[in-house]
Amino acid sequence: MKYDQLIIYYFSGTGNARNAAIWIEKIAKEKGLKTHLINIDRFKTVDVPELSEKTLIGFCSPTHGFNMPPIVLKFLFKFPKVKNADAFILNTRAGMKLYKFYLPGLSGVAQLLPALILRLKGFRIVGMQPLDLPSNWLLLHPGLKKKVVNSIYTRCNSIVNDFASKLLEGKRKYKALLSLPIDIALIPITLGYYFIGRFFLAKTLITTDACNNCEKCIIQCPVEAIKMINDRPFWTYNCESCMRCVNACPQRAIETTHAFSTALIIASSVIISPLLIAGLKYFGALDFVNQSVITENFWSIINAFIFLLFVFISYRILHFLMRYKFVNKIIAYTSLSKYKFWRRYKAPKHMINENNIK
Ligand SMILES: Cc1cc2nc3c(=O)[nH]c(=O)nc-3n(C[C@H](O)[C@H](O)[C@H](O)COP(=O)(O)O)c2cc1C
Repeated sequence: MKYDQLIIYYFSGTGNARNAAIWIEKIAKEKGLKTHLINIDRFKTVDVPELSEKTLIGFCSPTHGFNMPPIVLKFLFKFPKVKNADAFILNTRAGMKLYKFYLPGLSGVAQLLPALILRLKGFRIVGMQPLDLPSNWLLLHPGLKKKVVNSIYTRCNSIVNDFASKLLEGKRKYKALLSLPIDIALIPITLGYYFIGRFFLAKTLITTDACNNCEKCIIQCPVEAIKMINDRPFWTYNCESCMRCVNACPQRAIETTHAFSTALIIASSVIISPLLIAGLKYFGALDFVNQSVITENFWSIINAFIFLLFVFISYRILHFLMRYKFVNKIIAYTSLSKYKFWRRYKAPKHMINENNIK
């Protein structure tokens, strides 16, 4: 047997990556390996059990904005250097099913960047597996129907079992490299999401009057991004939009502010940014800056900065105004997530063995 120990670090917003990690652990246990399953929620330090030459280390995480979520990237950067240890990466993606066809998500650099970081840390990458579990991106679409979720789960379970068995036999599997050209083409969008998009999305969540301040969202947030301000949960820029809070809320009180967010994008791009930039130019506010620096890219960065500032201020005001019933009602009824057809998503638990999970 090539390995006698398996360590899996996982991050999971709504349970998909966690389930994949549990499936792999199950196969390893059946083969007699010692296993550690480590959840990296709110990690402060990177704890590494004693490694031997026969240790395999895995990293399981969802894909966020064609990349690994920032918490996972931070974790990987902090991981200590190793000497020739074997590692695998599994990224869960937005799987869908249309009629009888399973549709894949898109990885972007969710495999490439971690592989590079781990390589620089001294790891040998022996497995790179994307896994198209049900999409949980509730900001964009309702949760999938139970029947579809179960069907996608059954398919993915056998993919993971095959992947884990081959790795533990000492074989290498690089399924993730098949989409390399598409993943590289997505890099500009990945950068846009990382530097702008994710901060905007952090400000699209709000609680309505249905909230009873149970604080479950605050307690469960894996990155401690939700604060209680004036008796109402407030999403900070730390939020990774992992969707755990939206799904965990027992009152279904967390909504995505669809109409409000759309209005912000339009107001910023049509009124606020053009006016401010025209003002900056007219009053020569940037004359002290070396003119060779003021290129198209420079204005794009200023635009992004104005947008995020505008979003932040607007969100603060909205958060304050939500104490008024009529504002609360307007926001609730203009959020698609308020309506029954906008199902929440939580990964099924019935297909996994819940023993010994941290
Ligand atoms: C904010 C956000 C961004 C996402 N970005 C991507 C993406 O770029 N590509 C993709 O295939 N899936 C994307 N997804 C879907 C999730 O990666 C996918 O549903 C995953 O299986 C969720 O895993 P989890 O339950 O462990 O959080 C995204 C989901 C969210 C919430």
